[in-house]
Amino acid sequence: MSDKFVAAIDQGTTSSRCIIFNQDGAVVAVDQREHRQIFPKPGWVEHDATEIWSKVQAVVAGAIAKAGLRADQLSALGITNQRETTVLWDRKTGKPVHNAIVWQDTRTAALCTELGGSDGQDRFRDRTGLPLASYFAGPKVAWLLDNVPGLRQRAEAGEIAFGTIDSWLIWNLTGATDSGVHVTDVTNAGRTMLMNLETLQWDQSILDAMNVPAAVLPEIRSSSEVYGTAHGQVAGVPVASALGDQHAALFGQTCYSVGEAKNTYGTGSFLLLNTGQRPVPSKNGLLTTMAYQLGGEAPTYCLEGSIAITGALVQWFRDQLGIIKEAAEIETLAASVDDNGGAYIVPAFSGLFAPYWRSDARGVVAGLTRYVTKGHLARAVLEATSWQTREVVDAMYQDSGVHITSLKVDGGMTGNNLLMQHQADVLGVPVIRPVVAETTCLGAAYAAGLATGVWSDLDELSSHWKRDAEWTPQMDEDARGREYHNWRKAVERSFGWLE
Ligand code: G3P
Repeated sequence: MSDKFVAAIDQGTTSSRCIIFNQDGAVVAVDQREHRQIFPKPGWVEHDATEIWSKVQAVVAGAIAKAGLRADQLSALGITNQRETTVLWDRKTGKPVHNAIVWQDTRTAALCTELGGSDGQDRFRDRTGLPLASYFAGPKVAWLLDNVPGLRQRAEAGEIAFGTIDSWLIWNLTGATDSGVHVTDVTNAGRTMLMNLETLQWDQSILDAMNVPAAVLPEIRSSSEVYGTAHGQVAGVPVASALGDQHAALFGQTCYSVGEAKNTYGTGSFLLLNTGQRPVPSKNGLLTTMAYQLGGEAPTYCLEGSIAITGALVQWFRDQLGIIKEAAEIETLAASVDDNGGAYIVPAFSGLFAPYWRSDARGVVAGLTRYVTKGHLARAVLEATSWQTREVVDAMYQDSGVHITSLKVDGGMTGNNLLMQHQADVLGVPVIRPVVAETTCLGAAYAAGLATGVWSDLDELSSHWKRDAEWTPQMDEDARGREYHNWRKAVERSFGWLE
């Protein structure tokens, strides 16, 4: 075995993981722990940032123990994280002043409408690449400052720090309280709606519009550089990367050239297309966002199609309807029939993200007849993922002119053969899964290893990527067109449900 090791922390929406990789980019050890989901009201989702930090410490210790290593054998530590989730903490005590508001939380929907004013949803799009939506962090900061008694005054006095989860972890890893390093990277800062995509700095006019004091903000740095040295259990290890999880997956999938794309299938799905060194504005409901920035190099941008609900629809089918007991059973049930029997499910559980950004949409099951069985519904659940992905791929083509010739995939649902075949069928291009499917952690490890000399360049990283499975399209074009037409009709029926 090679003798350099890099640890990556993936702090996700439902759990935290630590994976240690060797110099070949192979997994040496994994540890994972879940944390509580807090639902104070319908539509509100919170996390306890202190609990997250203790779970992160536990998985780092767990992975090091499983790898049979000492902490001082780690060359670097990288961070990747659920994006947009917002933490505010006291700089002196290092304690959060409120639960973290999670990306899925919709409490700022009315504030976003108000902020849009007569300009509407696109008021800040030219500077940030994002539509005004409750998904992003800036309005969550404003909400906290306005709703936690006394917080705004303390924030203006410089006593309070804001961070997305990357900042929170780096602060704690590097010493917490006054000695902690308060930074974020461009990929995470780009999801606040407060960063200017061209300058890669906080945009004062947007801070003014949202009434967010600059005193709370972290310094924006690249995604791959040494931010500081860890204290505590991994004392002395350089903390050397930070990327939002979807950007890390793009980096781990080695999508380093313009036109390369990946789709990660988790709770939701996030398809990112590398568009090179210039931001490409979207006219078709995609986000213009950062891909990554390596040290002092020019940044790389991407277009993103964010789909809120994909894997979560399978969980709903299992937990709320009770039709299956384990998520994996959906494939067997779906395979018990030849097609969807005419049924379509649009999982607009909290509106629809890309390419529609419709907060008034709610879920629908369309095309029901007495013929439809639970097998057909299982198919409709899986097909909802591939059709939503198809819509995002179409929008990518309209925005960028890039026809993807294949799609790299990763995440839990890529273990479902029936879904992956349907995905290839509806896209009409091959779908390819790599051997190391832990691409999110791998991307964070790669960025940390590049900053510390474990790996020399992107070509070396690309040479690690190996194909594990490939699905080629089999559906004929007429059937594809017919089915897509039906899907679009079902989507239209989800609009305007919430008045
Ligand atoms: O933008 C939200 C995304 O970063 C969440 O990812 O995998 O933690 O659900 P995940």
